[in-house]
Amino acid sequence: MSNWRITGGNSLNGEIRVQGSKNAVLPIMAASIITGCETELINCPMLSDVEAAIEILRHLGCIVDRDADTIYIDSRPMTGTDIPHYLMREMRSSVIFLGAILARAHSAQISYPGGCELGARPVDLHLEALRTLGAQITEQGGELFCRDSGLRGGRINLAFPSVGATENVMLSACAAEGETVITNAAREPEIIDLQDYLIKLGARVSGAGTSTVVIGGFEPRKRVGHRVMTDRIVAATLLCSTACAGGNVSLKSVTPEHFETVTSALEQMGCEITRSSMGVSIRAGGALRAARPISTGPYPAFPTDAQPLLMAACLKAVGTTVFTENIFENRFRHAIEMRRLGADIDVVGRVAIIKGVERLSAARVTATDLRGGAALVAAALAAEGRTELFDSGHINRGYERLDRILNELGAEVELIEN
Ligand code: EPZ
Repeated sequence: MSNWRITGGNSLNGEIRVQGSKNAVLPIMAASIITGCETELINCPMLSDVEAAIEILRHLGCIVDRDADTIYIDSRPMTGTDIPHYLMREMRSSVIFLGAILARAHSAQISYPGGCELGARPVDLHLEALRTLGAQITEQGGELFCRDSGLRGGRINLAFPSVGATENVMLSACAAEGETVITNAAREPEIIDLQDYLIKLGARVSGAGTSTVVIGGFEPRKRVGHRVMTDRIVAATLLCSTACAGGNVSLKSVTPEHFETVTSALEQMGCEITRSSMGVSIRAGGALRAARPISTGPYPAFPTDAQPLLMAACLKAVGTTVFTENIFENRFRHAIEMRRLGADIDVVGRVAIIKGVERLSAARVTATDLRGGAALVAAALAAEGRTELFDSGHINRGYERLDRILNELGAEVELIEN
């Protein structure tokens, strides 16, 4: 639990190396158990969600050590096949371990992953796909009981390009007899990073980044080293924060095309964006223009995770911006808190209409979820006075010391643990 004190008015200037990707490292940590092997992951972010995944691996019997941004996992001693409620509750995306445990042990029991602040977060697509590969799955007392007498490859057409379901199938299909073809697969860059790891582990996987992923066999290796990709949503967060505060910030070791929809929206709003093989820079100052209508969707559409962050940059822009949130049914909760800063936002169902205002003023606000919390920090940079943000731990789930990074760039952010 912490209170953030953000004093608005300072611009952001400087160069920052962006952390490794939360949404890439988590499925790769799950993948490290599909066969008994030693994995060394570098560029791993220091996040509470990563700590939760380490706890799950240790609970399953793996040896896990961490030294700064390097995580070493030895999954050879793994004996467990269950993830208890207290660990699932820590991180609902632990459902990604289901396919990996089945691939390794052909039996798995996890506490049913509940919803979260963003919505119900069903896992029906995961379960339907695993059943197609031969898993028998029953649910009783809030627990999912899964077993298989040998997974068989098959054709899986996802009704929606779910990131987690695509990843779960990729992991379980490594242990399946015969080829598995996933159509309407998620195309996010994190899926490509997972494929890169699986290929190093000895799996024959191809097509990640397209709508058709093929998994056709597995000759397990004993040792794998992998560098986790950079976090594209943290990169988008720092760009949007600079758009809010003004300034000139360069992000190192990021891949511009991974968040092109965000940078092109910022450019259209009047920010100057420079892209190179080394990274991305942004220069922003003065009032921005409102963005064109933003509609979130599966990659390569505008990422839902960046929606709150670009909204923060629109609060003082000249004109009206319309956001449509097509991924999660409850992802505008941050708008209520932004109104406390003086924003003019109307939310009607999955549409939020932002009319730019002259000024924002400090207020007491509460982080509603991971990206909503980061968006409130960004908005507070553009507010007059000192904003108090109460965070019950959301921001640390996905951001490695965001306060320290913003202060290095010239912000005045104080974290009061309570
Ligand atoms: C991943 O969640 C990310 N999390 C999310 O990031 C991200 O917002 C999301 O993908 C979309 O890009 C991780 O990678 C750990 P989905 P995931 O399955 O896999 C529906 C963050 O801020 N759906 O693509 O859970 C679901 O309800 C987090 O870092 C079903 O209906 O996302 C949602 O509406 C937040 N049935 C949509 O699909 C299912 O079985 C997208 O879900 C699965 C999903």
